[in-house]
Amino acid sequence: MSDLKFNKIFGAVLGAGLGVMAVGILADSLYHVEQPDTPGFMVEIAEDSGSAGAAQDTGPIIPDFGTVIPAADIAAGEKVAKKCVSCHSFEQGGANKTGPNLWGVMGAKPAGRGTGFGYSDALKAYGETHVWDYETMYAFLENPKGEVPGTAMAYAGLRKSDQRVALIAYLRSLDANPIPVPAPKPAEPEPAPEAEGEEAAAETVAE
Ligand code: HEC
Repeated sequence: MSDLKFNKIFGAVLGAGLGVMAVGILADSLYHVEQPDTPGFMVEIAEDSGSAGAAQDTGPIIPDFGTVIPAADIAAGEKVAKKCVSCHSFEQGGANKTGPNLWGVMGAKPAGRGTGFGYSDALKAYGETHVWDYETMYAFLENPKGEVPGTAMAYAGLRKSDQRVALIAYLRSLDANPIPVPAPKPAEPEPAPEAEGEEAAAETVAE
């Protein structure tokens, strides 16, 4: 092979190599433009679902009982009460079981209805300073031992707020004179636009 021929071949190989490199650099730069977009997008989704899950689980949000009790489904509450019937009867004059009969419990003093049930000292002490109103019952049904430490009620609690509200509406109905429903709280400044929207919708329907 002559030197000239060798140079030509070497040059061609070198040229091809440079071409491949150039394409590689170009492809790299194109690829790099897209890369940050993808992970950023994914992270956003992960954070979104994460914070939404956390919002559901953290902190008790006490409902406005003046609004939710009149709207509650008493029949649904009676179904939820099936979780309690192994220990409680609900009808007037019903027998005490592992737990006391629950007729007329809303508005009563805890451990204070003269049911003849052998209450724990913890519930008796709680009854000195509390009444079974919407707030205390809502807290007790979520976590009996959290609201009344030392209570003999061996029940883990109802996690779902709507189940507790329906159950409380049912318990409230088990009384010759059910306790009054509080007046709904005035609308907060923030949800005002929503209330206006509802009004506007109601007006539209009325027309
Ligand atoms: C494993 C049995 C058991 C289950 C299940 C149970 N309870 Fe009880 N409950 C008791 C006992 C025992 C007491 C008495 C607690 C004490 O003396 O500390 C009690 C007390 C109560 C009281 C207070 C009564 C009063 O006179 O002050 C209420 C209200 C109550 N239970 C509601 C419920 C509801 C509603 C459910 C169903 C979601 C339920 N319980 C499920 C055993 C149970």
